[in-house]
Amino acid sequence: MPSSNNPLVAPVLKWVGGKRQLFETFKPLFPKRISSYCEPFLGGGAIFFRLQPRKAFVNDINEDLMLVYRMIRDDVENLIAALSTYKNDAETFYAVRDLDRDKEIFARLSDVERAARIIYLNKTCYNGLYRVNSAGEFNSPFGSYRNPNIVNAPTLRAVSKYLNSADVTLTAVDYAEVLSAIPKQTFVYLDPPYYPVSTTANFTGYVKGGFNRDEL
Ligand SMILES: C[S@@+](CC[C@H](N)C(=O)[O-])C[C@H]1O[C@@H](n2cnc3c(N)ncnc32)[C@H](O)[C@@H]1O
Repeated sequence: MPSSNNPLVAPVLKWVGGKRQLFETFKPLFPKRISSYCEPFLGGGAIFFRLQPRKAFVNDINEDLMLVYRMIRDDVENLIAALSTYKNDAETFYAVRDLDRDKEIFARLSDVERAARIIYLNKTCYNGLYRVNSAGEFNSPFGSYRNPNIVNAPTLRAVSKYLNSADVTLTAVDYAEVLSAIPKQTFVYLDPPYYPVSTTANFTGYVKGGFNRDEL
């Protein structure tokens, strides 16, 4: 890992299956120099943000998630301003969460407002769980956390600076499409969703449509 990496560049969202704690375990397995990096199941991006490659193709089928990264890159100050307006109480939480129940109102939100909503819900919902119902409506309950870090401005600004200074392609498509289009010599780190070990584990909860056993 180059010593020039900025330690403030780190995951901005809690994400199921986040690999922040495993970086040191994986590190000896990564090539010393990575000229081109690809992560098709990005999630919270723990490994990507730690490596901070100068050229990268990062992707997740979750469009809300990739919108968050795009807005951090393109409009971070307005994103921070929008996040600063939210309160951590059940009334605000359910009002913001349920914006997607009215398709007309939801369609009028700007991309920054949508991205701020996803970050806010992630910080304040139960376990940071991104979960939508079959209609694509966010349905995780309020988490009742005492002091969630809704506006982590230093991290948001550092991630924005990194995404603007490196050659990073952000997409929200199926992983197979990404793998078919990357240049030769690209190092690929794959962290797909897991199959549940119990029938109660919510394997397909990441995104409407989900990943299934045939794709394992
Ligand atoms: C185990 S998580 C990745 C966690 C990530 N490594 C981290 O550190 O936070 C798997 C991710 O794959 C995404 N995903 C599921 N099916 C996908 C598909 N067909 N193509 C691309 N991404 C997919 C999910 O939205 C989820 O964010």
